Amino acid sequence: MHALVVGGTGMLKDVALWLNRSGWTTTVVARRTERMDALLAASDEPENVTPVLVDWHDGRMLARAVREAARRNGPYALVVWWMHASAADSEPWLLRAIGESAAATWRLFHVKGSRASLPGQNRRLPLGAGGLYREVILGFQLESDGTSRWLTHQEIAGGVIAAIERDDVQTIVGRVDPWDQRPV
Ligand SMILES: NC(=O)c1ccc[n+]([C@@H]2O[C@H](COP(=O)([O-])OP(=O)(O)OC[C@H]3O[C@@H](n4cnc5c(N)ncnc54)[C@H](OP(=O)(O)O)[C@@H]3O)[C@@H](O)[C@H]2O)c1
Repeated sequence: MHALVVGGTGMLKDVALWLNRSGWTTTVVARRTERMDALLAASDEPENVTPVLVDWHDGRMLARAVREAARRNGPYALVVWWMHASAADSEPWLLRAIGESAAATWRLFHVKGSRASLPGQNRRLPLGAGGLYREVILGFQLESDGTSRWLTHQEIAGGVIAAIERDDVQTIVGRVDPWDQRPV
């Protein structure tokens, strides 16, 4: 089984490692060698991790690398997607490459910032036939002293892993209410 984690060496690093530990051949997209090396060093089975070091603003290059990884590792059955809005132009490239390289049925977990919880701010990725869309919205935490904070990497990765395990259509990690108490 082949999984793709886009943006998999930062807050989603533990998701990539969990997939790897759980028997998935895991392709990880990121940009910096040092963070990818840290992921590989933390992996029990680094031979089952395919690093793809590419700037996601280059849609053509990204699509080519993702297709190449599927030729090597087999069709994608699971995708975890974290990309900044600055790379929106690359989304069609990546979606097409994944769609053409995916299993008959595949799942995409779209990880989004907290603003996706606001009316009119949520945006789904259009998946082709066989693609099942899931979303994970990253919220914040309210502390007992009334202050609020953003999620830790551990909380984010734990929330994404739980979403994959439960196969929930929508997951909110932490909370998005009350919105006016979010951290500034
Ligand atoms: N609600 C919340 O609590 C919430 C929501 C969103 C984010 N956050 C926090 O905000 C922080 C910032 O998020 P972040 O996305 O900037 O950092 P991040 O999670 O540390 O890194 C994002 C991932 O995307 C990759 N990436 C970034 N730019 C790329 C590019 N141009 N091309 C290819 N890959 C790229 C990074 O690899 P490279 O490092 O190699 O570029 C890394 O694997 C996170 O640490 C997270 O804790 C919190």
